[in-house]
Amino acid sequence: MTAVRLDGAAIARELRTGFASRVERLAAAGIRPGLSVVLVGDDAASRVYVRNKAQACESIGMRSDVHVLGADATEAQVLARIAALNGDAEIDGILVQLPLPAHIDEHAVVEAIAAGKDVDGFRRENVGALSQGRPGFVPCTPRGVVAMLDHAGVELRGLHAVVVGRSNIVGKPMAQLLTARDATVTLCHSRTVDLAAHTRRADVLVVAAGGPKMIGADMVKPGAVVIDVGIHRQADGTLCGDADYDACREVASLISPVPGGVGPMTIAMLLANTLDAAERRAVRT
Ligand code: GUN
Repeated sequence: MTAVRLDGAAIARELRTGFASRVERLAAAGIRPGLSVVLVGDDAASRVYVRNKAQACESIGMRSDVHVLGADATEAQVLARIAALNGDAEIDGILVQLPLPAHIDEHAVVEAIAAGKDVDGFRRENVGALSQGRPGFVPCTPRGVVAMLDHAGVELRGLHAVVVGRSNIVGKPMAQLLTARDATVTLCHSRTVDLAAHTRRADVLVVAAGGPKMIGADMVKPGAVVIDVGIHRQADGTLCGDADYDACREVASLISPVPGGVGPMTIAMLLANTLDAAERRAVRT
């Protein structure tokens, strides 16, 4: 079997068309959705991610501004910038690009973002809401993975989903979202014994483990859906994911590539979360 490629870039383009219509409807009500991205320091990969996020906003007519602070910015300076953005009624979403320089307390910074503007869904209110199945901002990557599965018509109810990776940004919220969709979920991580024994039992395998090509074809159940959240630069300059794409596509039924899979979906869901916030503003005003 050769798997069908889950083209996240194409799905994200399709979603953006719908988002642009929502921006137009908001404009008619006198509201321009706005996202502020805060970047501290000069991490090259973070700069690229932030640029992509800002460009995506502009592509649908959403306002975005990037606040760049130097690598030597103090925690107080970052908190002051967030306080200003919290108080700006024209800003619907605030995202602080992670990781932050080591001298800044990431937790303190994330918790300083107003809960209603936390479009990353990283604040404890939003983390709690997801775990209780109540409304709140859902982190962009897991929300994007589920949107991708929905788009492909994968009926999650009753399937065995295996998530590899237990990060706060991806693995843990991913496991909760899949549970909320009635999948039976196994959450694996770096200390899991015999990882392959678990992954081979997955109908849906979501990998966010941080090891280039660590998932080989022998770790995939025939016919499984493989979603690859990893992204790594290889020695020859090309990108690859946590799964060995060429090998796994011979076993899986659906597989997301890297690049062009989950990455564009993450950005699309950032737009979705910001639009959700702007639409709530429209109801309030
Ligand atoms: N760094 C890597 N992924 C993310 C993300 O989803 N949000 C933020 N804010 N920083 C990140």
